[in-house]
Amino acid sequence: MIGRPIIRLDSVPSTQDVVFRLADRGAAEGLTVLARHQSAGRGRAGRAWIAPPGSALTFSVLLRPDIPPASLMPFSLLVADAIAETILAMHGVQSTIKWPNDVLVGGRKLSGVLLQARGGVAVLGVGLNVRTPAADLPDGATSLVVESGAGSAPDPDLLLGPLLHAIAGRYRSVRSGDTGEAMDRVHRRLHLRGEQVVLRDGDRERRGRILGVRGDGALLLEEDGHPRAIVSGELVRGPRPDGHACH
Ligand code: BTN
Repeated sequence: MIGRPIIRLDSVPSTQDVVFRLADRGAAEGLTVLARHQSAGRGRAGRAWIAPPGSALTFSVLLRPDIPPASLMPFSLLVADAIAETILAMHGVQSTIKWPNDVLVGGRKLSGVLLQARGGVAVLGVGLNVRTPAADLPDGATSLVVESGAGSAPDPDLLLGPLLHAIAGRYRSVRSGDTGEAMDRVHRRLHLRGEQVVLRDGDRERRGRILGVRGDGALLLEEDGHPRAIVSGELVRGPRPDGHACH
């Protein structure tokens, strides 16, 4: 059961490492580690996840999936959908989903999802900027307090329960293969859908128009008039003619 138990820590390098260590010692699926601060929080592709202490919701969940690793592929997008639905329900904030794992508001990053797997264990990490003031946000990032314009600052603790509940629902869907409804929402919310983009995968750059996402989590890109399913890469540029990076 996701979120049972929850271990709350003050400061750790990364909650991902704590959960992997507890998994090695036999902890059960669902264990969730939440930290008020991470000194070496990490994101996808070797990036850092940085947030001032107490300002973000940062947690990792231990999963022991009983499905083949390939079937878990759409889970990051489904978790992004869980985040998008939860912040809409609780704070009225509309967001988009940037393939493969970010939640954006007004084109700026509000939240990121990191799914790491090894040896039958998967660790899901979520970082969500909740009450970070604009002045403390890195370039291209935003937070709930900035976006919701709330008089009182949103509370990371109040978001945790509903968010874990939504994630648990997406985990059930991915295990039963019943992801259609949530993937349709991901498709509708997809950042830059219909736009020309540049995708970087290692040394390789692909250019094309985003058509949507496939049920298995692949990005559908129209390249030279042909649809191509992309399973890895980073969206590095959007449609801006000046060649600046999109977020
Ligand atoms: C990304 O933006 O690429 C993913 C960011 C994931 C950040 C979360 S915060 C909790 C967990 N611990 C980490 O070190 N990273 C994830």
